[in-house]
Formats: sequence, C-alpha cells, structure tokens
Amino acid sequence: MCGIVGYIGSKTASGILLEGLKRLEYRGYDSAGLAIINDGGLVIEKAVGRILNLEKKVGPIFGSATVGIAHTRWATHGAPTETNAHPHLDHSGKIALVHNGIIENYASLRKYLEAQGVGFESETDTEVLAKLIGHFYTGDNLEQAVRSALSEVQGTYGIAVICADQPDRIIAARKGSPLIVGIGKNEYIVASDASAIIEHTNQVIYLSDGEMAIVSREGFRTITLDAVPVTKDVQQVEWKLEQIELGGFEHFMLKEIFEQPESVRMCMRGRVNLREGTIHLGGIANYARELTRAHRFVFTACGTAWHAGLVGEYLFEDLARIPTETEYASEFRYRNPVLDDGTVICAISQSGETADTLAALREARDKGALGIGIVNTVGSTIARETDAGVYLHVGPEIGVASTKAFTGQVTVLAMLAAFLGRRKHLSPANFQNFICALDQIPGQIEKVLEQSGEIRRVAEKLAGRENWLYLGRGYNYPVALEGALKIKEISYVHAEGMPAAEMKHGPIALVNKGMPAVFIATHSSQYDKILGNIEEVKARGATTVAVITEGDSEICRQCDFCFTVPKTIEPLEPLLTIIPLQLLAYHVAVLRGCNIDKPRNLAKSVTVE
Ligand code: AGP
Ligand code: GLU
Repeated sequence: MCGIVGYIGSKTASGILLEGLKRLEYRGYDSAGLAIINDGGLVIEKAVGRILNLEKKVGPIFGSATVGIAHTRWATHGAPTETNAHPHLDHSGKIALVHNGIIENYASLRKYLEAQGVGFESETDTEVLAKLIGHFYTGDNLEQAVRSALSEVQGTYGIAVICADQPDRIIAARKGSPLIVGIGKNEYIVASDASAIIEHTNQVIYLSDGEMAIVSREGFRTITLDAVPVTKDVQQVEWKLEQIELGGFEHFMLKEIFEQPESVRMCMRGRVNLREGTIHLGGIANYARELTRAHRFVFTACGTAWHAGLVGEYLFEDLARIPTETEYASEFRYRNPVLDDGTVICAISQSGETADTLAALREARDKGALGIGIVNTVGSTIARETDAGVYLHVGPEIGVASTKAFTGQVTVLAMLAAFLGRRKHLSPANFQNFICALDQIPGQIEKVLEQSGEIRRVAEKLAGRENWLYLGRGYNYPVALEGALKIKEISYVHAEGMPAAEMKHGPIALVNKGMPAVFIATHSSQYDKILGNIEEVKARGATTVAVITEGDSEICRQCDFCFTVPKTIEPLEPLLTIIPLQLLAYHVAVLRGCNIDKPRNLAKSVTVE
C-alpha cells in the first residue's frame, strides 16, 4: 500500500531515497518517483512499474543533492501512469509533494482552484493538494501554507513536502496514513514505516493523526495543524535489518513460514511461565479486571487477521466462557452495532494501519466499548488508539501473504483466552495442561515444516487445478478459510473455504473430477463427521488432500494425499494445521510462476477503504 521516504542530511539523497523505496516495495505499488533540490531548484523523475525503472532514470544531476522525497504509488485516483505518479508540484513548480491516502474532497477543491486559474496535469487527488499548498504559499511561509491546505482537506494523508525556496527542510504530516521520522546524526529520514529507516537509525518518533513535523539537518519540531507544539517521545525500533533481509530464502513468505517456530516462541517469551503455571500479558495487566468481567468480546479485523479472530471466538467461548463474536471490520463500522460498556472491542491487525479495522475500533470506542489491540507493528496507529493490548512480537512480516502473523495472532488469542479462563472457570490443572500444550507448539511446528519437500511434490501434481475447496470443522473451520485465502492470494486460483458440513448445502454441486478438496481431518471431536464428508466428495471424483494427525493410517488409505501434524489439544490445532496449507499455497504459487511476495493487485497494508 504505497510508501513515502524523505531524506535531509549531508549525504547524497537519491541513493538513500531509492534504497528506502526498495525497503517499502513489499507494501505493494504500481509506480514510483522522487524529487530532490539542487542549486537549480527542484529535479523530479518518475516511472511506472518497478523501482528499477525509476533508478535507471536517475542521472548525475541528482548527485549533489542532500535533500529529497520519494514515493511508491498504489493508484486510487487515476491510472498508474508517469503523469499520475508522485511527486506532484504546485503551480509555481517550486513545491513538490508525495502523498499516501485519499483526498476525499479533491473534486470540489480542484474546481475551486481551477476557478482561480490553476491548471492540472494529472487525474490524481494528490495533485490537488500540491496545488492547494501552492495556492496558500507566499514565498516564505511553507509551513503555514501546508497547514492551511491540510485544514481544507477531508480524507486521509501521510505527506512529505519540499520547496526549492527552502531547501533546508522537509515538512511531514499525517492523518490516517502512517508516517515516522528517523533520527540520525545530523540527518533525518521521514518514512511510511521503519523498514526504510532501520539501516540508518533505530531512533524514531511516530507522528499521530493531525500532527506535522518540520525536519531540518539540525533537528525537528512537531506541531498540530493549529501550530500548537507537540512533544514526541523518541522510541527505539526493535527490528534489526537482517530481519528484513531474505536470510537465504528465495522469498520472504517462505522465510516467514519457516520462522514460525521461533516467532511463536518470541510471542510467548516472558509471558507463559510453565514453572509458575502462569500467563503474564503486561499490555493488558491494568485492565485484567475489566476484561474478566466483560459481558461480550467483539473481535474486529480483515483478511487473515479475521480468520485468527474466528479461532479466537472459539477459544474465548470454550476456555473463558465469554460470549464472543468476530466481525469483518468493513461491515462492523457501518452497521450501527449494539454495544454497551460491558463490551470489549478487540482489533486484530498485523500492520496496525488497516483503515477498516481502525475505523471499527474507533466506532466501538466512541460507543463506550473498552478497546484492546492484538497488533504486530509497535507504535502503529491501531496500537496507539487502544486502551490496552498485546503485541505479537513475531518480527516484521514482509510477505504480503500473512503467515507468521496468523500463528502469532492465534497464539496471543490462546494466551488471552487461557488467562481470562483461569480467572473464571478454568481449573488450575486444565490451565496447566493448556500452557504445557502451548509450550510444545514451536517444536511441533518444526516437525510439520519437515514435510515441505513432500508438500511440494503434491503441489507439482495439483498446481494446474483452477478450483479448490477447503473444508474443516470446529477450530479447524477458520483454518479452512485461511488455507483458501493463502492459495487464492498468491496462486490466483479460485479457492473456497467453508465448514465441512456446509458443503452439502450447495457447494458440493461444484465438485467434479479432479477438483482438489482439502480437508483438515485431525483426530478431533468431529473426526467421524469429516470422514463422511471426505467420502461425499470422493464419490464425485474429487482429488482429496487431508491434514491428519500423525499415526492416522485409516485416512491415508482414503485420501489421495495426506500431510501430518503432531497430536495436540484441539484448541491449539490451528497453530499446526495451518502450516501445511501455507506451504501448499507457496509451492503451488511458485510452480505457477506467480510473484510470491508482491502478488498482483495486493498490498501489505490496506490503509485506504
Ligand atoms: C492476508 O494474507 C492478507 N495479506 C490480508 O488479508 C491481510 O491479512 C489483511 O489486509 C489485514 O491486514 P492487517 O492484519 O495488517 O490488518
Ligand atoms: N490517492 C493518491 C493517488 O492515487 C495516493 C495513492 C497512494 O496512497 O499511493 O495518487
């Protein structure tokens, strides 16, 4: 979902800007551009497609400049063309702007400016903001011109602005699209996320909505749009650069699938204590009483995070006996939900910036609900707008298809459910059994990962199939949904996940010869029912793939292909049964020649509606 990088310091800006854009590539984009200020004023280059195309156009003229801004665009208004790519200029050609987000009232602002004789080159909403800043600019008041323009804007933005008249500063502002400032030694980097900053510094400040930073080589100031000074705490980014790098894997997605034993361990580190028989979640400790007494939990999220929330729903009702529902954020935010002060809204989000999830959280909190977050990105907007929360601590997830974030989210939900359950009905013995089983999970994931070669061999047989069914029951129903989403989003085949019993209410009409039907068929409470579902599709010629509990020889005889997972307690099965489905999706996508880490049309974080 697009990206911004700005640099001001003593080094050559263009190299740092281009490297920064490459670090943000995983967010998804369709075009890119950059602007620097040299002795002659603003110099701009843009290109459609990959950053490499832009890099080829950056000539020696960029060499001496030490201040600049750059952008990867994910088009919302106007096709991905060079003209529509950012940076955009004001009418004087002295001010350059890059923007993440949507200016919702761009049409009326454009009409107003055109009535003042201002011309436009592009179809974008962003150019309107650039021209509006120019409209207010009087030659020495850049900061005020930006504030005046933003006060007219409705919608979302993360922006960086430079001006040929004032080459000693970058102005950054945010409302709804993340923006952070990296603090180096007499150099500063503005960026959409820490990936573009951490090779230069791990000291950052996170801008909040309605804030602006004026950044120079000597330092930075932060103010509100009303020019009220704001003090920002400098925070330290936990990530290390190598966590962003591929680490010898062919793709970030594969790296992150194989990171899951360690990422689940990181998620539990300092939280699950086997010896004491406790779970400690510092981020919600001050609200433990309210959470325990809650009448109802509402999990709100999108995509994979929503699937994790659905596992959470089963966990909360099963272990904590608290009525729980899982809501698509995009629906929840608009349907005028009934909430009372006994309701807890829990926003689940890897990026912490998903627009719909943020809006749903705000809607629920405005109605009096206590808001908690289960987020991976520290300091992200959702994390900062909740009353409390639990970070995943699984490290940066670069692949667009979410993998370790899913198992991290489910792990946090399992810990939270057990934590609350123990304060309600869960006996010490059952609680201890639960955390012992949880402690085994990382090692068990390692065993499942050993089947990657076998899974690839199965993928070689099925990669040409165009329509897939994913079927599961109970705790593994959300896993069926997640497995279908994985193969859909990176292999571009059609796949549908559903409760296995639902098949006979219509979808079984789809089943034809050779159609892959993937079952999560572990030795769970509904094992016999799943056997029956497998028979139903086999009778109609489907190719059956089953994720089974190791040692189950009966199903192996029935199914065409089987992947095994170690035995664990049913509530924790999703942490294991999802692994073969992640690998299956990955290997099918590789065999189909798809772009694994940057699937077409997708973005890592959907910060627009
Ligand atoms: C999952 O593989 C997708 N990338 C997408 O569904 C994602 O889970 C969804 O956009 C939510 O993102 P978030 O967790 O950052 O809020
Ligand atoms: N809405 C702007 C455009 O379409 C910015 C899109 C983005 O966030 O990259 O150019």
